[in-house]
Order: sequence, then structure tokens, then C-alpha cells
Amino acid sequence: MGREAHANKDGGVPREGQGQGRHVPVMLQRCLDLLAPALERPGAVVVDCTLGLGGHSEALLSRFPEARLVALDRDKEALRLSEERLAPFGDRATLVHAVYDELPDVLDRLGLTSVQGVLFDLGVSSMQLDEADRGFAYAQDAPLDMRMDQTTGIGAAEVLNTYPPGELVRILRAYGEEKQAKRIVSAVVREREKEPFTNSARLVELIRDSLPQAAKRTGGNPAKRTFQALRIEVNGELTVLERAVPAAVKALAVEGRIAVLAYHSLEDRLVKQVLAAGAATTAPPGLPVVPERYQPRLKLLTRGAELPTEEEIAQNRRAAPARLRGAQRIREDAE
Ligand SMILES: C[S@@+](CC[C@H](N)C(=O)[O-])C[C@H]1O[C@@H](n2cnc3c(N)ncnc32)[C@H](O)[C@@H]1O
Repeated sequence: MGREAHANKDGGVPREGQGQGRHVPVMLQRCLDLLAPALERPGAVVVDCTLGLGGHSEALLSRFPEARLVALDRDKEALRLSEERLAPFGDRATLVHAVYDELPDVLDRLGLTSVQGVLFDLGVSSMQLDEADRGFAYAQDAPLDMRMDQTTGIGAAEVLNTYPPGELVRILRAYGEEKQAKRIVSAVVREREKEPFTNSARLVELIRDSLPQAAKRTGGNPAKRTFQALRIEVNGELTVLERAVPAAVKALAVEGRIAVLAYHSLEDRLVKQVLAAGAATTAPPGLPVVPERYQPRLKLLTRGAELPTEEEIAQNRRAAPARLRGAQRIREDAE
């Protein structure tokens, strides 16, 4: 297997519970079908921007035997586990430790000027959620970290302990759509002055105690929105995605296809906007004939967002919030 910018230090045997068998790739068949017309040809290159445990990647390599895969992840543990899984495909798979907005540089380094397919399966992986000590899950007590790449950046505890209150309120509102942001942040600021936060259980308890009864009755675990907000902030998720989807569209060859699985409305809105903008004309209004350079670059392949079936959700509850959007590149960029 081709390898770039990532050294496997410890041999990479999946730990119990994290191996191939457990993780079910979300909307797998539909993702493969969406990308198929672009990948069923010799020399096709497909980029999996979110390798994770390699479920989608493995299926792409199996279903499209003439295609080569470039797969990115910012989480070295994910790369380590997937390297084993994809080893049978030899040098058809190149795994790269990178944040997905670095896609243009990665392709450059690999000498690829364009690709035929791109897949994003956004958010956190099952492995990240299941590993308690990564601190993503509010259901178990763990250090408040939430970094997808543990080699860089600051963790959730530092955000909570050091950000000005106004900034925390903004984050909870914008990234968690949390209506009780002010109330939660007041409680956090009061508590952090007594003792800095280190673990998730104290935060979960504080959120529960600070919310009015009515707010606790709806929307599942009351800590869910705060955890989502902290995770998005810690990993700069939306900022990175905002750059990455246009970069992926730009990297597509004509007839190339992109598929994106989003898991919350903020991600999905952003994806929808980028794809819709690519599928619209950029001509000033009122032109009698739209010149070639203003014609859309994309054709949408999904009507709105496609959702997982009830059957899939019954088998894999983590698929429940998924929204899939796809598009096909139909022309080059205007000069
Ligand atoms: C939902 S999982 C992907 C699961 C994968 N499709 C599978 O079948 O195993 C998302 C993965 O994307 C990675 N990821 C999230 N944001 C990223 C980013 N900005 N750059 C690179 N990788 C990212 C996470 O570390 C995680 O491993």
C-alpha cells in the first residue's frame, strides 16, 4: 500500500471491538451507486476524504477494481487501523495523514491533476466515539479532549476553561444550536473559577443542573448540543469543510462525481450551498443567451438530501441523522 506522511509505529493490530467487523458504513450501497458511473473505468482515481475505519474505502476498492484510492484522515489511529484493512489491495490504496482541506496539496504531491470521484463521510467515526478516552461521548466520563488529531491543537477542556464567556455563548449557539447557551455558559464560568474542567461527567452534570425542566424534556441528552459545539470548535470542522467541498469540486474531472454524507444541519446546509452554487449559472440576470463561461459546473444527482432507510437505521442507529448529497461535474472551470 502506498503511504504518505504517516509512519506506522506499532504494527497496527486492531484492538478488540475496533476491527473490521463492527463498523457499518453509512448508506454504503447508495454512495457506491452514486459514484459508479465515474469509477467504472481504467485509471479512475477516487478520494475518500474521511477514511475512518476504511469501510467505504474498502467497498470502493472492491466494487471498482480498475480504480485507485487516495484516502485522507486527520486521525492517525484511524489510518493505523485502516492500513491493515486495506493491505490486501496493495498499491491501489494510498493513505494520507491530512486534514481534508489540504486535498489540493495532497493531489499535487501525488502528481494527480484531477480525480474521478470524491467521498466525504463527515463527523466522527465509531472508533472515536467508542474510545472513551478520546472524550467525544457525553454518555461516559472521560477527559474532555475531542481532538480528531491528537498530535495538534487544543482540546475541549482548554476551550471551556480559557475562552471568554461571550465566545463560548457564540460557539454553543452557532455550532450546537443551543437555545440555553447563556445559562450554560454562566454555570461553566462560575464553576471553572472554582476548579478548571478536566472531565466530561462534571460538564454533563452541570448542564443538566443548569437547564430548566422544560428544556430537559425535549431533544435527547441535554449535553448533546454543547458537546457537538465543542467538538466543532476544537476541530475547526465547519471552517475546514467550507474550504474542502469547493476544493473537492474543483479537483473533479469532467464527469467526475462527488458524494457527501452529513450528520447535522450545519454541515448539510454548507454542503447544500456549495453544490447548489455549482449547479447554478453565474450569469448576471437578464442575459438573453448565457455564455459558456457562466454555465453551471455541476449537475445535482440527488433531489434534496437522501436519507437512510428505516431498515438501515434499525441496524445502525448512527446512520439515523445522515443526509446524502451528490453531484456530477459537467464542465471545466471558466478561465
Ligand atoms: C464518520 S468517519 C468515516 C468512516 C468511514 N467512512 C468508514 O466507513 O469507516 C469520519 C472520519 O473522518 C475523519 N475526519 C473528520 N474531519 C476530518 C478532516 N477535516 N480532515 C480529515 N479527516 C477528517 C475523522 O477523523 C473520522 O475518522
